[in-house]
Amino acid sequence: MASIVAGFASSHTPLMSLPGEDWGKRANDDMRNRELIRPRDGKRVTYDELLESADPSIAEQIDEEIFCSKYNAIQVALNELQDTFAQVDPDVVVMFGDDQDEMFFDDNYPMISVYWGDVLTHYPRRTNRPGLSEAMRIAAAVYGTEVIDYPVETKLGLHLIEQLVNRDFDVAQRRYMQPEYGGTIGPATWYLDFKRTTTPRRQGMAHAFAFPVCRWFAGKRPPMAPITINTCYPPNWISPRRAFALGRAVREAIEAWDSDARVAIVTSGGLSHFTVDEEIDRRALEGLTSADGDSLSTLPRYKLQSATTEILNWVAAAGAMGTLRMELLTYQAGYRSPAGTGCGCAVGRWLPTDGG
Ligand SMILES: [Fe+2]
Repeated sequence: MASIVAGFASSHTPLMSLPGEDWGKRANDDMRNRELIRPRDGKRVTYDELLESADPSIAEQIDEEIFCSKYNAIQVALNELQDTFAQVDPDVVVMFGDDQDEMFFDDNYPMISVYWGDVLTHYPRRTNRPGLSEAMRIAAAVYGTEVIDYPVETKLGLHLIEQLVNRDFDVAQRRYMQPEYGGTIGPATWYLDFKRTTTPRRQGMAHAFAFPVCRWFAGKRPPMAPITINTCYPPNWISPRRAFALGRAVREAIEAWDSDARVAIVTSGGLSHFTVDEEIDRRALEGLTSADGDSLSTLPRYKLQSATTEILNWVAAAGAMGTLRMELLTYQAGYRSPAGTGCGCAVGRWLPTDGG
């Protein structure tokens, strides 16, 4: 039977790929961000409203030297994750990721979807897109210049679908994509009181999957079984409890797979953004590093909005890692403006030697 030999996780914010000297450029983008959530009460606010309520001590962290030191700490941790991934050298990876206006829109947006086509193609980012900010252009370099026809472990994909259905998860399944696709999301509930529009564009690997492949897979391409969960968009966004339970069910499914493959669990995303919320980050990290499923399953919804919900990718991964505790390689509260915008940047791994 297959076995889970390790787990790997990192944030994938542009700050992870944007030298500290340039963090200030990304702060300029925040002024027009319509997804700024105030940590205190979970209310969506304007940049000016956020600035008004921000802890004045945040302003002390808006400093190029501090940006550079945080960026460097992140690179050290990502490089260590990359080295560990190369050492473990898994036969197969099962990945949890979300989808932000990439494959899914309001014409049909599944809560949980397993892709099991033969190949999942990664396309480098188009850096000449109109409206792309300089910060995003610089950070996009992490996605490389190579088109990658990434192999999918189709047998495991099919097995996961069947096993999850047997365990009462009503999963969507997908075997191919339209060459080009777009659509709208929202308005819905909670923070999403506006409409997001994406013009049709070519379809490929979503960023939550592409970031690990491009940044810390060390050039390795073990076949993947990608599981997409809707963390970000109400009304059918996944709950913390369901995300954890999904991870648990995926673990059982892998352990029931008739294969001698050494499987790694992989995820990316989070932590809090586009406003840094150290309280929810610390609470999630505490749950991850103590393998506390009850705590992870009860993370408060009002703090899990917008892209902060990507924490639920980590919650699903933790479910799949069983009783193993995550080892935190770094956490950097990536403030980039005095209003507290930015991202909680984290890197972690699960290894059997951690004593979990
Ligand atoms: Fe994301």
